[in-house]
Parts: sequence; C-alpha cells; structure tokens
Amino acid sequence: MILPLFFIFCLFSSSHAAVQDFCVGDLKAPQGPAGYSCKDPSKVTVNDFVFSGLGIPGNTSNLIKAAVTPAFAAQFPGVNGLDISSARLDLAPGGVVPFHTHPGGSEILVVVQGRICAGFVSSANTVYFKTLKKGDIMVFPQGLLHFQINAGGSVAIAFVSFSSASPGLQILDYALFGNNLPTELVAATTFLDAAQIKKLKGVLGGTG
Ligand SMILES: *[C@@H]1O[C@H](CO)[C@@H](O)[C@H](O)[C@H]1NC(C)=O
Repeated sequence: MILPLFFIFCLFSSSHAAVQDFCVGDLKAPQGPAGYSCKDPSKVTVNDFVFSGLGIPGNTSNLIKAAVTPAFAAQFPGVNGLDISSARLDLAPGGVVPFHTHPGGSEILVVVQGRICAGFVSSANTVYFKTLKKGDIMVFPQGLLHFQINAGGSVAIAFVSFSSASPGLQILDYALFGNNLPTELVAATTFLDAAQIKKLKGVLGGTG
C-alpha cells in the first residue's frame, strides 16, 4: 500500500511540468528576471493571446528607412513566460536595420516580400551574410551582432520570431553615438576620430 503511494508521490514531485498553463503578463506589475507577474487567470481572455499589430506596415519615414514592430511581452502579454515572441520588419528601398543585438534570445527571420541582405558576426569575428528572397529564412544566434539591409529596389517585409518573450533590441550605432558618453571616451573606446564621432552624434541624437 505504501509503495504505490510513494511512486505516485515521486511522479508528481519530480515532474518539471509547469504548475500553470500560462502566465499572461500583468503589465502594471514590476518586471523581474523571469518576466512579468501573472495576470489573474480569471481575468484572462482570448485577446491576451492575440496580437493584431503585425498586419500594419511600420513607419519607415526615418533615418534608417526601416521599422521594427515588436510583439514582445510588453506589447503582447500572452507570450510572457513562454520564451517566444515575434516582430515585423519593414524596409523601404535603401532601408537598413543597422548592426544590433537581442541580448535575450535567438532570432529566426522569414522574408515575405522583397529581398533582404542579412548577416551576423560570430564571437570569432567570422561574418555570415547572404541575400535572402521571399520564403527564405535565416537564424541569428542569441546575442550576436547582426543586420538586415533592403537588397532590392522595392519595399521588403519580414516577420521574425525570438526564443524569448523579451529578447531586447540594442542598436550598435545608437549605443555608440546616440547618448551623452563624452566624445573623448567614445574615441578612446572605438579608435574613431573626434570629428567623425561628433558628426555621428549629430545624426543620431547624441551629445557631448
Ligand atoms: C511617419 O513618421 C514621420 C516622422 O516621424 C511622420 O512625420 C509621419 O507623420 C509618420 N507617418 C504616419 C503615417 O504615421
């Protein structure tokens, strides 16, 4: 009698199954390393699991002629805790998503319109890049610097998925030239000359 009960106990206690089906993010509560706190399940509706924003083209009237529309946990609370999220990428002719990283997750990009030259640089500084056409997919390993450039004369569109509900986005040029890090420190850490740094700060909204 005792033995079967013991096995049943082991079955449950050693299980790594989630104790809940989902944890829709409560965006009003603070975010911790594991994501947002869970919204009260009795208040969850189907709309928490649907995000309709990716059908709308992003506004590419900007310096990079590109737009990234995220459906991360902050915009799409249903993905909170599920290690998954999406985004839409619009590239006008001449558009580029400059070198950037997603510290929190790997990325898969699916081209649905136009041609995109995409690539990444490994930790060993090896470059992997290719011009992708409609239907091609490319994977960008977590944390590595990568880019996407419109490689055709018309609008290019891609959808991307991430292995994180909050993969983050840090664009290298803005990290270097879009803030108030003093020019002499940018020069010391990049080996660029001050005139070029000040010019880029002017373009990208930096000071100092
Ligand atoms: C797109 O962004 C530009 C620059 O911020 C703005 O002037 C324009 O009104 C925006 N267009 C739309 C359709 O929102």
